Amino acid sequence: MCKFKKKSIIIDVDTGIDDSVALAIALASKKIDLKLVTTSAGNVGVEQSTQNTLDVLNYLKHGNVPVAMGEKEPLARNHKPISVHGKDGIGDFSSKFPEHNLKPLAVPAFEAMADVINKSSSPITIVALGPLTNIAKLLLNHKNVVSKIEEVIIMAGSIDEHKQGEMPYPEFNVKVDPEACQAVISSGVKIIVCPMEMGHSAYLDYYDVYKTKKLNYAGAFFEKIFRLYKDHHVKNGIAMHDSCAVAYCIDPKLFLTEDFEAKVEYYNDQKIGILHCEKSDRQNVKVCMKCDIKKFKNLYFSALRKTRIITE
Ligand code: RIB
Ligand code: CA
Repeated sequence: MCKFKKKSIIIDVDTGIDDSVALAIALASKKIDLKLVTTSAGNVGVEQSTQNTLDVLNYLKHGNVPVAMGEKEPLARNHKPISVHGKDGIGDFSSKFPEHNLKPLAVPAFEAMADVINKSSSPITIVALGPLTNIAKLLLNHKNVVSKIEEVIIMAGSIDEHKQGEMPYPEFNVKVDPEACQAVISSGVKIIVCPMEMGHSAYLDYYDVYKTKKLNYAGAFFEKIFRLYKDHHVKNGIAMHDSCAVAYCIDPKLFLTEDFEAKVEYYNDQKIGILHCEKSDRQNVKVCMKCDIKKFKNLYFSALRKTRIITE
């Protein structure tokens, strides 16, 4: 008899080394029913992030999970990829994945999301691990879904108060599409922000990476792609940004949260978008402020122990 009702969720990814670990943790959790994965243009272009997502799901023996490709470009600016995750966005492992015939759905991500939400008998949680373009498109084009969404957990932004007048560090997912971020936080859905400080504190140190490699075939795969992950904020380990957002979805008690009023602010002539959170009586988001690192790592390793790869 199941003790608890599973959470029906949609995960939006820009796979992405840390996105692929987050997918594995979600897929291993008994508390989650992953209805759909949608892909965004973030770490790499959306065609590549879609291919990476299909490759990873197939490799982790979950090729049955539907995938819908998202928008090629942000709402109001051009997409600029980064090389933090390797040239192909998945630790340059793409040529080593086994062949498969998986394809994305024939509809765009925001329509696939609307379909899942409208057909679901229970509210849907959305976990956003890349730029928020697809979620913004969903909320701008299907306003009726707001009441059918439990909450949107976004890996986005930074809580470090910046020195007055200086530009704070532009967290990547917001920087790629700040207009989408603003559209999501002003849509009226319940928002949980998992800022980059969580991934910088809940990182895998080198002993964790060694244990990952030795644990099983899936761990050996992750250790290989970790080698190319270059988040310069974490000098002695692997930042687990996206896994923190999924960990919140599985067990919110792993995090201390505080209520803030969040809005996107733009800096300099490039209109660099930064998610700014401040205390106010017009709070519109909950922000994760502290992570129970020990419990997070237990969740990570227990998920990894349950993860198999297709060639085993
Ligand atoms: O800033 C970290 C975020 O940017 C993570 O989601 C990582 O995958 C990249 O998309
Ligand atoms: Ca990501």
